[in-house]
Amino acid sequence: MQQFDSALRDAAATVEPRLSDILAREIDRGGPPRLIEAMRHAVLGGGKRFRPFLVLETAAVFGIAPDDAVDAAAAIECIHCYSLAHDDLPAMDNDELRRGQPTVWKAYGEWSAILVGDALQALAFELVSAPSAHKNADVRAALVLTLATASGACGMVGGQMLDLAASEASAAPSAISDITRLQSLKTGALIRAACDMGAIIGEASPRQRNAMLAYGEALGVAFQISDDLLDAEGSTENVGKATGKDAAAGKATLVSLLGVTAARKQLDDTVASAVNALSIFGPEADALRGAALFMGRRGR
Ligand code: IPE
Ligand code: IPE
Ligand code: MG
Ligand code: MG
Ligand code: MG
Repeated sequence: MQQFDSALRDAAATVEPRLSDILAREIDRGGPPRLIEAMRHAVLGGGKRFRPFLVLETAAVFGIAPDDAVDAAAAIECIHCYSLAHDDLPAMDNDELRRGQPTVWKAYGEWSAILVGDALQALAFELVSAPSAHKNADVRAALVLTLATASGACGMVGGQMLDLAASEASAAPSAISDITRLQSLKTGALIRAACDMGAIIGEASPRQRNAMLAYGEALGVAFQISDDLLDAEGSTENVGKATGKDAAAGKATLVSLLGVTAARKQLDDTVASAVNALSIFGPEADALRGAALFMGRRGR
């Protein structure tokens, strides 16, 4: 677990300066300063950098140095930050606080927050397709494919659709399997993609890549259950965003369906499956094991 905490800090220390440079370059390339400033607000200054950590640590299992995976890590964080900028909009979750700061729409206005998301999404694909992402063009193409699939209608965006539709009483899912599907799309898809991207950069064998995908799948679901538990039980001060909002908005979560105790049991089982998926790897995967165990106790 200790190893996880320090690996998470290392990942942030690797990806944040890169993200900052990339956004500074957007100004040099003539991007409107107010847009870039709002993009910086969305991307920098907070966040656990959990998806970049997964890219870097999965790649490290295959002996890849952080510098050789940092652009892929930055790209998935751009997609994640775009998804948050849009998720917080009045038309979606209508949230005013994120990472302890005003949300993008609160600080810069709604249309700016929409454009920030659009620009971050494009930037993410620029990052993974540019030669600096990896010397091998086949690897870059595989990164683009994984990121695109995970971001779109059958990934994160599809999950956001199900999440918001479920807030309408008539569409609320009542089966655990429906909620698990929603979660595996809205949150799981990007977490799974982060693990896959590390395996792609590491040029993993099909067996190793499948193990990473199984790990990412379970981890993603665990991540969202723990997010839902934080919403139900955490404090705004610790979590850096409003809590108690899911129940107020009638969101379909395992907590709303099963209650806190059963949701926590489901979380523990999912964490165990994530750890189990890594059984073909040795101590080189310990930070990833620690990441799964962190889900069971996270406070932010
Ligand atoms: C929050 O993600 C949104 C979900 C997908 C549940 P994180 O908990 O990773 O948010 P940051 O990046 O650390 O702020
Ligand atoms: C957000 O889920 C998932 C995405 C942005 C894809 P939530 O709506 O539960 O995330 P928070 O709680 O606002 O961070
Ligand atoms: Mg939401
Ligand atoms: Mg939200
Ligand atoms: Mg939430």
